[in-house]
Amino acid sequence: MALRETVEAEGVVQATTPGVAVVRVGLVGAGNVGGALFELLEREGDAVAARTGLRFQVVRVAVSDVSRARPVDIPASILTTDALAIACAEDVDVVVELMGGLEPARSVVIQALRNHKPVVTANKELISSEAAALYAEAARSGVDLLFEASVGGAIPLVRPLRESLAGERVTRVMGIVNGTTNYILTRMSEDGVSYADAVKEAQSLGFAERDPTADVAGHDAAAKAAILATLAFGAEISQSDVWREGIANLRQEDVAHAARLGYEVKLLAIAERGTGPSESSPEALDGNVSVRVHPAMVPRSHPLAAVRRAHNAVFIEGDSVGELMLYGRGAGGAPTAAAVLGDLIDASHNLLSGTCSRLAVGPRISPQPAGELWSAFYVSIDVMDRPGVLATVAGVFGEHDVSIRSMEQMGLGEEARLVFLTHSAKEANMAETLESLAALDSVKRVGALLRVLGEVGDGA
Ligand SMILES: NC(=O)c1ccc[n+]([C@@H]2O[C@H](COP(=O)([O-])OP(=O)(O)OC[C@H]3O[C@@H](n4cnc5c(N)ncnc54)[C@H](OP(=O)(O)O)[C@@H]3O)[C@@H](O)[C@H]2O)c1
Repeated sequence: MALRETVEAEGVVQATTPGVAVVRVGLVGAGNVGGALFELLEREGDAVAARTGLRFQVVRVAVSDVSRARPVDIPASILTTDALAIACAEDVDVVVELMGGLEPARSVVIQALRNHKPVVTANKELISSEAAALYAEAARSGVDLLFEASVGGAIPLVRPLRESLAGERVTRVMGIVNGTTNYILTRMSEDGVSYADAVKEAQSLGFAERDPTADVAGHDAAAKAAILATLAFGAEISQSDVWREGIANLRQEDVAHAARLGYEVKLLAIAERGTGPSESSPEALDGNVSVRVHPAMVPRSHPLAAVRRAHNAVFIEGDSVGELMLYGRGAGGAPTAAAVLGDLIDASHNLLSGTCSRLAVGPRISPQPAGELWSAFYVSIDVMDRPGVLATVAGVFGEHDVSIRSMEQMGLGEEARLVFLTHSAKEANMAETLESLAALDSVKRVGALLRVLGEVGDGA
């Protein structure tokens, strides 16, 4: 209880109403999420105090431009552009980092932890690239570093993996963790909208950034996959180790074709244990887990196929629990702020009782090389419409040990396309097949490559 005594001795956490402690919050960032949190605390402050015994008082707010007009009314007297000062301020008990990006967010978080201030963050970029160093800093200082909102917005994912399933041997975590791409894919599948138009629509609705690369190329999902994998396996897996393919190569015809076969195309983040020797420690997992992001054909009978528009869902499988699925709104100011508030309540209760939640993360491990994985594939190829092309193209698959399950020709002349479904094949062999196909004179374009979840025809 040393921390509590220090805290009380310094008068940092004050009790006003009997049984209610005032917690002074330093908010770093007041954009979509930070602004929504400020508003939520204003609106629900009394209810939160009644339920939790904590009254949150936002005493400082860092932004990049104090003169900017904001949808929430933040008193000018508490606005500052000096984010680092909040991490050091004596009148701040808990720091909430909602500015995003690596720097200066990283310095703010480290400085706050060093000053024994618990930190709540929604910053997936930071957590997915520096997890172990940040957890170690928090452990050294004996305060919380909580990041529920960094994956899946409002959906509780971090806490269930970190606490409820702490004793479980999780074998696979697989989910739709990027709402923008799921919105785009839903519009392509259900309404026949082209990829380009679906992206524009997502931008006009505020789901996608003006530069949508982070979403459509899978970077955002890869950061979340790294966080989920680290939590599930108890060993550090960095975003840079996540194998990634995005959805920019997909055409509406591919999504429609998959639908005719009984599948929905989804951008999946997958973290799973490999088939190597059974591991007894996190170190033994090195090279024996797979962490990846790619579009896949999901049988319509699978619960993830029913996740539409900007919603997220994560499917967790474990030895004892079997299958769990968590579903909800994966982004947006208000849902994300709700997850931040949950962490803020936890961190404050822990601060008051002089404790902190534990997160043991083993050493950094490397996932299994992507080329070693096996899957059935869908591949579409634009070809010249002339005799002998089909036999030449099919021959290339055979040369690389990729066995064709079915083939369909779609369109004629300039529009001629061949669509192949393969039996289960090694990724490396499929990659070589695509390379050889692209080099053929008769091939105009190698289009979408989709992994097929389950046996072809399962979901039809
Ligand atoms: N938006 C979502 O739906 C969502 C969902 C899950 C997680 N997240 C995560 O939540 C975090 C915040 O996202 P957001 O959408 O709220 O971002 P945002 O709208 O861009 O807000 C960022 C805030 O940080 C402030 N800021 C930026 N650089 C600063 C600096 N150097 N010093 C001081 N303040 C600075 C900005 O100030 P100004 O207001 O003056 O520009 C703004 O208030 C990110 O880590 C994001 O990945 C967001």
